Amino acid sequence: METTRAGASLKSAGEQAAAALAAMPRRPEVIRCPICKRQCLSFEELSEHYAAEHPDSVAPTAVTLNVNGLNCSLIIEPHLTLKQVLQLHLGLTGAKEMCDRGACGSCTVIMDGNPALSCNILASECEGRSIETIEMVAVMPKWRPLIDEYCKWDAMQCGYCTPGYLMAAKALLDRNPSPTEYEIREALSGNICICGTQPRHSQAILEAVSRMAKGETINA
Ligand code: FES
Ligand code: FES
Repeated sequence: METTRAGASLKSAGEQAAAALAAMPRRPEVIRCPICKRQCLSFEELSEHYAAEHPDSVAPTAVTLNVNGLNCSLIIEPHLTLKQVLQLHLGLTGAKEMCDRGACGSCTVIMDGNPALSCNILASECEGRSIETIEMVAVMPKWRPLIDEYCKWDAMQCGYCTPGYLMAAKALLDRNPSPTEYEIREALSGNICICGTQPRHSQAILEAVSRMAKGETINA
């Protein structure tokens, strides 16, 4: 871990991702009514409380998501998107929200093996789904060449769109470990970078593919 001149510790992106994954709650510690804050012992008790005390309000819902390989049982507001639940309930802030309308790809996660726009999906409709996020990619040695090549080829400027690009790239490489440049461009066609880094993504991915094919996982 690096430190600043003032001695404060600086965590790398990988260390931050690992910390976020380790802190992910598997189930709510305390179940409280979001309206009156009454503590309930179970989701069933909360539902009964809602029906009795707040009959005109939309009751929270229970959902279990498999996030980065862990089953997480959550009680959520039914209007929350998957992006909001990842951030607000699980502390995973890697997926970014730029357009909030399914147009830019910056919120891309992988759901059941396919890229998915987390700003456009209700978390309550993801029961039992398998979700992968950028935090997992950031800590897996296998994907280190991909991240390294993004840095080397300057395929990011502000970096806001980068997690979405990397998840779209991972989804492609999971099903096709040696894509052509055309296939890469096609796989990234749902992602937009307003800093204008698009021309460098396919080069970065092609070089990462070549390094991964040699079994390289860690930057020397
Ligand atoms: S923030 Fe989800 S597609 Fe733009
Ligand atoms: S690097 Fe800034 S939006 Fe893509």
